[in-house]
Amino acid sequence: MAIAVLDPDKSTVTILTELIEEMGETPCPFTDKDKYLSAISPKSHSIAVISDDFIDVIEGTKQVYQSIDVVAIGGRDRDECIRAGADHHLKKPFLADEFRQVLHVLLHSARAQGPSENGAFIAADRGMRKIIEILDKVAPTQAAVLIQGESGTGKEVIARYIHRLSKRSSGPYVGINLAAIPDTLLESELFGYEKGAFTGAYATRIGKFELANEGTILLDEVTEISMGLQAKLLRVLQERQIDRVGSKAPIAVDFRVISTTNRDIEEDIREGRFRKDLYFRLNVIPIKVPPLRARRDDIVPLASHFIAKVAKREGMEEKFLTPEAKDALLSYSWPGNVRELENVIERSMILTDGAGITAEAVTIGMEGGPNVMTEHVAVGTTIHDMEKRLIMSTLESVEGNRTKAASLLGISIRTLRNKLNEYSGKSQFSDASADENSAPE
Ligand SMILES: Nc1ncnc2c1ncn2[C@@H]1O[C@H](COP(=O)(O)OP(=O)(O)OP(=O)(O)O)[C@@H](O)[C@H]1O
Ligand SMILES: [Mg+2]
Repeated sequence: MAIAVLDPDKSTVTILTELIEEMGETPCPFTDKDKYLSAISPKSHSIAVISDDFIDVIEGTKQVYQSIDVVAIGGRDRDECIRAGADHHLKKPFLADEFRQVLHVLLHSARAQGPSENGAFIAADRGMRKIIEILDKVAPTQAAVLIQGESGTGKEVIARYIHRLSKRSSGPYVGINLAAIPDTLLESELFGYEKGAFTGAYATRIGKFELANEGTILLDEVTEISMGLQAKLLRVLQERQIDRVGSKAPIAVDFRVISTTNRDIEEDIREGRFRKDLYFRLNVIPIKVPPLRARRDDIVPLASHFIAKVAKREGMEEKFLTPEAKDALLSYSWPGNVRELENVIERSMILTDGAGITAEAVTIGMEGGPNVMTEHVAVGTTIHDMEKRLIMSTLESVEGNRTKAASLLGISIRTLRNKLNEYSGKSQFSDASADENSAPE
């Protein structure tokens, strides 16, 4: 596997190329971004070192090819590069040794040593096996798939599984979380923009649909977009062409669409928040992923899978689950679903000294705390009330930090904010960092 280097400065490229050769690796140098873009491929490159003058290339590389490790180099702010998707950032001027060190770490990371772990899809439960049967039939077709399920149930894993088994598997897989991007920016994220389309559009930028050409686009949390954008999305799905913001000529794009939601989309339609015609376009094949508590036969196989995964990543011996630990896992409600189970196992692996993971080790890790399950709930309590109590007590336990609470609850910050608004108009809790980049409501 080669290491791509892209920098407009020729002498930087020459120096880095030499350093890579000295390390016994194969460099693949570029000063021109178009040449880089047409050459880059996860089949031949494991790492891309990219000048942060090309922040859009950093972003695009990471979005299309998650398996390529991206090292950003240059004078920009580190956080900006990491947000764009870079795995590392080296501020210019940096020492040859710093560069070697970063490459050394990446070359020896698990990801560089073979196909990524992302591929694993555990399904022991009967309900999940049925879903796999359907996926195997649907994947090779061009049909749109709508995946519904609570947060953390594995919707994204399923979307990747479909792409991997599709005829488009050698093409890009491009995901976009529609809840995470303010509505005002979404249109240009999805469809791109032409240079000069608005203040700040210094260069033409291609959007997610174009990036997904000949591949699959995943519209994550599709119910979160405004009515205006729903209309535009519908047109794209019907006509298979997109309009970059500020452009006059539409561009034909060949994509397959997979979307996900953790909301009750049928209710959104009934209440007029989501277009029915768009729903029909997206929901050719509906997949409903059950919550983890409704597929208990998956719990232990998933736990074993995560034990092996952590052991491999950390270079540790695999540990086993004691019978009591298994009982604890099986009797918990898993509000955060598979994601929560993964976190619990990871923590237990790291905190357990011996070979056996105890019940105590796993219950300490449970995010809601085991008490939440055993708390007496009177018959007649509505799910709405339970949810509200859980949300408020989680918030309390993290002193009102919404980011932490959302992660503990296994929901998006946006969903949390919507719930809080629903409960009380304006909430007493604040978390500036979480709210700053959210869409206006
Ligand atoms: N069947 C599975 N086999 C292996 N790993 C799984 C499986 N389901 C989920 N996971 C793991 O659990 C975590 C959460 O899964 P994923 O991101 O697909 O959930 P999601 O439904 O998309 O959640 P959200 O609604 O919050 O986006 C991931 O780390 C994923 O790798
Ligand atoms: Mg997801």
